[in-house]
Amino acid sequence: MTTVSNTKLKAQASALNFYYGDYQALKNIDFPVEQNKVTALIGPSGCGKSTFLRCFNRMHDLYPNMRYEGQILLNPDGVNIIGPHVDPIEVRMRISMVFQKPNPFPKSIYENVAYGLRVRGERNRKIIDEKVEEALRNAALWNEAKDRLNDLAFNLSGGQQQRLCIARALATDPEILLFDEPTSALDPIATSRIEELIHELKEKVTILIVTHNMQQAARVSDYTAFMYLGEVVEFDNTNKIFTNPSSKLTEEYITGRFG
Ligand SMILES: Nc1ncnc2c1ncn2[C@@H]1O[C@H](COP(=O)(O)OP(=O)(O)O)[C@@H](O)[C@H]1O
Ligand SMILES: [Mg+2]
Repeated sequence: MTTVSNTKLKAQASALNFYYGDYQALKNIDFPVEQNKVTALIGPSGCGKSTFLRCFNRMHDLYPNMRYEGQILLNPDGVNIIGPHVDPIEVRMRISMVFQKPNPFPKSIYENVAYGLRVRGERNRKIIDEKVEEALRNAALWNEAKDRLNDLAFNLSGGQQQRLCIARALATDPEILLFDEPTSALDPIATSRIEELIHELKEKVTILIVTHNMQQAARVSDYTAFMYLGEVVEFDNTNKIFTNPSSKLTEEYITGRFG
């Protein structure tokens, strides 16, 4: 089993299999997620990166004919988040996702960030105001947004919209943030702002990020997993993966010889 020594685990997947109908998309995955670190998932298109990420907030449950096997334990309570008796909605309160394309709601900047708080039943305007400001600050968007909180979110640039989606995810204090290729729709400047932000956010939250950009994985992550055909081929410190991988397959992938 892949483990991280002398560290605090926020989550651990063990013997995880996932099926879309008869098709097995994830095969016997053992995977540690260290607390307050960034863990990156790399690998060629179709290898199962998004499928794996979506197990963590039970996104698959929105579709029929899928099946999980094994477990993903979430600490500190050790609940198995893919367990049949665990409510996906509760999992999504603790583990939030940021997608490839910024997807703000057709609402104001303020209401986008306040959304999850309202869903949770928060009615106190002062508390919501404070939480919205805090989340926008933590998403490095406060200075740009503070004078236009009632503007429609769509009036923001693409990079600002993605930071707004991060603020929306942060507002409810998630324990893990999942990013699925969060910068692939952004220009290089907006991309580097998101990368800086991810680096800062790990003080507050544990991060799992899928990226097809290996330089990005090398820049932002502490640990990297290389996936291929639904399996984790290699998991290690990011530096080790990119300078001295143990597996020939990993080496071929990071040197651009396939994928
Ligand atoms: N909803 C789905 N139904 C059936 N097969 C799917 C579905 N989504 C993804 N797959 C398949 O699962 C495999 C892994 O896909 P995915 O996790 O999206 O890969 P990646 O994110 O690494 O590009 C691929 O073979 C893909 O075709
Ligand atoms: Mg994907």
